Amino acid sequence: MRALVIPQFSGPQGLEMRDVPEPRQAAGEVIVKTEAGGLNFADVLTAAGGYPGLPKPPLVAGREFAGVEQASGDRVMGYTQWGAFAEQISIPPHLLWPVPAQWSSVQAAAFPVNFFTAYFAYWKAGLAEPSPPSPPRVLIHAVAGGVGTAAVEIGKVLGVETYGTSSSDEKLDHVKELGLNHGINYKRTDYEAAIREMTNGEGVDAVFEMLGGEHTTKSVRCLRDFGRVITYGAASGKPSQVDPRILYAKGTSVHGLWLTQLSKNRDLMANAWKRLSAWADEGELHPVIGHTFPLDRAHEAYQLLIEGKNYGKVVLTIP
Ligand SMILES: NC(=O)c1ccc[n+]([C@@H]2O[C@H](COP(=O)([O-])OP(=O)(O)OC[C@H]3O[C@@H](n4cnc5c(N)ncnc54)[C@H](OP(=O)(O)O)[C@@H]3O)[C@@H](O)[C@H]2O)c1
Repeated sequence: MRALVIPQFSGPQGLEMRDVPEPRQAAGEVIVKTEAGGLNFADVLTAAGGYPGLPKPPLVAGREFAGVEQASGDRVMGYTQWGAFAEQISIPPHLLWPVPAQWSSVQAAAFPVNFFTAYFAYWKAGLAEPSPPSPPRVLIHAVAGGVGTAAVEIGKVLGVETYGTSSSDEKLDHVKELGLNHGINYKRTDYEAAIREMTNGEGVDAVFEMLGGEHTTKSVRCLRDFGRVITYGAASGKPSQVDPRILYAKGTSVHGLWLTQLSKNRDLMANAWKRLSAWADEGELHPVIGHTFPLDRAHEAYQLLIEGKNYGKVVLTIP
């Protein structure tokens, strides 16, 4: 079968389309014939060997996919650590979910990482239940990205007032159509000052933070009493810097989130899926697809993501 292979950890430019043996169905797993794969920032890190827990190369790239389960013929979408960007994958059934009837395979391939991560961010923030009369405020960094757009859609269902940052007015306009309440172009405006001004100096209840470096502390400063920063990435390439003393005055906290680990907890995933699938069936969730590329043009897809030029999700179609 055809697959996008990481021959060695030399970065996305070293990826190769290769013929590889079809996967053997491991005990307790099922075979899925894939139709599309969602591209993630983690795939960029994986290609360079910078993601924890990887086996030695060569390995097949890709952490999420949609397709058809070979034995049952059911349409499914799934999550893995690698192996998704190939014509077939062997996968344990607890990391597969049925595709909502109205979604295409491209939309389904954009679901697992973004929507589970965004849902768990609300859950870690203590905001996963519908909101009381006064809506909680959440600041979402990279709001026009994959996780960001998912967080806006889930926030709308939960009755959250959403604030989001992006480098581009055009991207912010798109996300406002999805339901974002307040956009902040961080190229023009300091987001900490903007949040202070927009919330009458009060701050927000949670920040979804994936930039790292100075931004974790800056995000803590955007919080009001007992607020929480949910940290789940370091796109700036710099590790987060937080002096815990900054948390004392307002009783704030910083929480980590890593889907790789959370996905090992079957009960947690089942509960999250129960909520997410109900919202999807009600037509509240629509994975935002910004760009699709056939698998043999994966280099362009990776490059788009590296340059931060994407709006929403970048999806690879698998013939
Ligand atoms: N912990 C977890 O389990 C988990 C799960 C999923 C994702 N993540 C992490 O969350 C982050 C976002 O994921 P995603 O899939 O939503 O990504 P994405 O769709 O590729 O969005 C990334 C966006 O971040 C913004 N950005 C701001 N500063 C950046 C910088 N210094 N470098 C690169 N991008 C920058 C850019 O948008 P603007 O131009 O609009 O600013 C860029 O388009 C990634 O770091 C990813 O690794 C973590």
